[in-house]
Amino acid sequence: MPAPPVKVFFIIILPLFATSLLLATLPPVHGWRPWPNQKAYNTTDFIFGGSKKYEGSSEFVHLKYHMGPVLTANITVYPIWYGVWQNSQKRIIREFISSISAVDSKPPSVSGWWKTVQLYTDQTGANISGHVLLGKEKNDRFYSHGKSLTRLSVQSVIKSAVTARTKPLPINPKNGVYLLLTSDDVYVQDFCNNVCGFHYFTFPSIVGYTLPYAWVGNSAKLCPGLCAYPFSVPDYIPGLKAVKPPNGDVGVDGMISVIGHEIAELSTNPLVNAWYAGQDPVFPVEIADLCEGIYGTGGGGSYTGQMLNGKDGATYNMNGIRRRFLLQWVWNHLLNYCTGPNAPDQ
Ligand SMILES: *[C@@H]1O[C@H](CO)[C@@H](O)[C@H](O)[C@H]1NC(C)=O
Ligand SMILES: *[C@@H]1O[C@H](CO)[C@@H](O)[C@H](O)[C@H]1NC(C)=O
Ligand SMILES: *[C@@H]1O[C@H](CO)[C@@H](O)[C@H](O)[C@H]1NC(C)=O
Repeated sequence: MPAPPVKVFFIIILPLFATSLLLATLPPVHGWRPWPNQKAYNTTDFIFGGSKKYEGSSEFVHLKYHMGPVLTANITVYPIWYGVWQNSQKRIIREFISSISAVDSKPPSVSGWWKTVQLYTDQTGANISGHVLLGKEKNDRFYSHGKSLTRLSVQSVIKSAVTARTKPLPINPKNGVYLLLTSDDVYVQDFCNNVCGFHYFTFPSIVGYTLPYAWVGNSAKLCPGLCAYPFSVPDYIPGLKAVKPPNGDVGVDGMISVIGHEIAELSTNPLVNAWYAGQDPVFPVEIADLCEGIYGTGGGGSYTGQMLNGKDGATYNMNGIRRRFLLQWVWNHLLNYCTGPNAPDQ
């Protein structure tokens, strides 16, 4: 999902007033969570019924291209590790990012999942890049902006990372994806209130540049039943059993699907004027929003769909370079349904 939904051209016209006006005018965020539940926002306009054969399939989804740019050149992801992160946790996330373009991974693979994202093009017909590279990283170990971030202070964290005196992150507005990852003791505005992550772009008035970015939080302590589902389940639903995470870390394994969700949407809608469904550009529904909570065949409604089980008893749905991951599917606009590499027709 895109987070602070503000019209792009508003910012271009009023750059000087941006900070103060935006504070006053940011509409409520519409949340995204990895739940197999389509009721987080009113999807009546997008999902109506659907065939039994294909997950999320519907003639009523009108995903449209709105002529804005998409990420067609090599995409570089710059992780910003905010707070305290263990090396073992960083390794899981780095390997996931590197797996996106690892075309030799065993199917069903993360790179097979990315093939659906590559089907999207810009006005020149150029496809989303197949190369997603892990770029320089920045540690923000001492919580430079505190343990409770607002949507605007998230931009200040990114500013600190790109303007740091030592080893600043490169400025890459065209092909960079700035990925802010917050540790499990950090609260971000709207986190757990149906929001597990969001993407948007930075405002020149705050950061000095328009940089596409995403935030994803480790929900292990705050709301794993919401944001690390199905590795954790909410206690208010009796009889629902959590499944074992493939990399042994409920919070981080849960973040993987959210990170994938945000990178897929950011690549197809970096300035929130390219690929989305819906009449209202303030509340765009993007390629991963449409497949929220769907991880396999039969997914949708309140069911995750068929997943895979490892010999170790862990649940996953695709392979990366050395690891396994559970990652939600994304919308295929040519077929008009959600798909993933573990679908029977892949
Ligand atoms: C969703 O939107 C439709 C059409 O705009 C409306 O008829 C319906 O009542 C809404 N449902 C909810 C739960 O708000
Ligand atoms: C894009 O990435 C690929 C794979 O890492 C590399 O071979 C290629 O040279 C890169 N292209 C550009 C223009 O940087
Ligand atoms: C590029 O996008 C077009 C249109 O969706 C699709 O037919 C084609 O297969 C895509 N190419 C790649 C390399 O994904």
